[in-house]
Amino acid sequence: MRKETRPFGFGGWRWELLGDVRGRALEIGCGWGHNFDHYPSEISVSAFDVEMDRVREAARRGHSIRLAAADAQQLPFPDVRFDSVVATLVFCSIPDPAAALGEIRRVLKPDGRLYLIDHVRSHHHWLGRAQDFLAPAWLWATGGCNLNRDTESTVRRAGFEIEKLKVGFGGLLKLMVSTKGNHRLR
Ligand SMILES: C[S@@+](CC[C@H](N)C(=O)[O-])C[C@H]1O[C@@H](n2cnc3c(N)ncnc32)[C@H](O)[C@@H]1O
Repeated sequence: MRKETRPFGFGGWRWELLGDVRGRALEIGCGWGHNFDHYPSEISVSAFDVEMDRVREAARRGHSIRLAAADAQQLPFPDVRFDSVVATLVFCSIPDPAAALGEIRRVLKPDGRLYLIDHVRSHHHWLGRAQDFLAPAWLWATGGCNLNRDTESTVRRAGFEIEKLKVGFGGLLKLMVSTKGNHRLR
């Protein structure tokens, strides 16, 4: 059940992003289902993750969300199917983010929106440099999480237009709500 008031910390970012999700929604890389409590009750959500054990964990949360195992780079859904696509803390670890964004563009309706939160490379010089330095060890230690991606640029290059952008934690975290833009890829 979605809370009336904004939770503290990162939960507040999830709450802010997901309160605006509308219609038929798809969540990619849902992990253990930490977003599920934040969706408005009236919408229909399908969610998936590439790891089957996480899908099983997410199912234990007991929500009426349809769950499956799938890869964001090859979405098993027809074209122009969804009003909203949600991705939180996923684009740091998708091997080919441009391919996943192409798939998201394909399954979104023309007036659909992409709702995204991720940790990114900070624009602060020394913080960004520190992330670059730590990134290889971080990638190895986490089994695939990239510490220094510029996901905002990747989203723009895929043709999306960002209509809401929020930056926090010294530039380490970004919230983006994007439309499909004018469909002409740059
Ligand atoms: C850090 S977890 C975040 C989970 C959840 N979105 C959240 O906000 O708590 C990243 C998730 O993305 C999933 N993932 C990574 N690459 C993926 C891909 N290509 N397709 C689908 N899920 C993927 C991982 O299995 C993992 O569950």
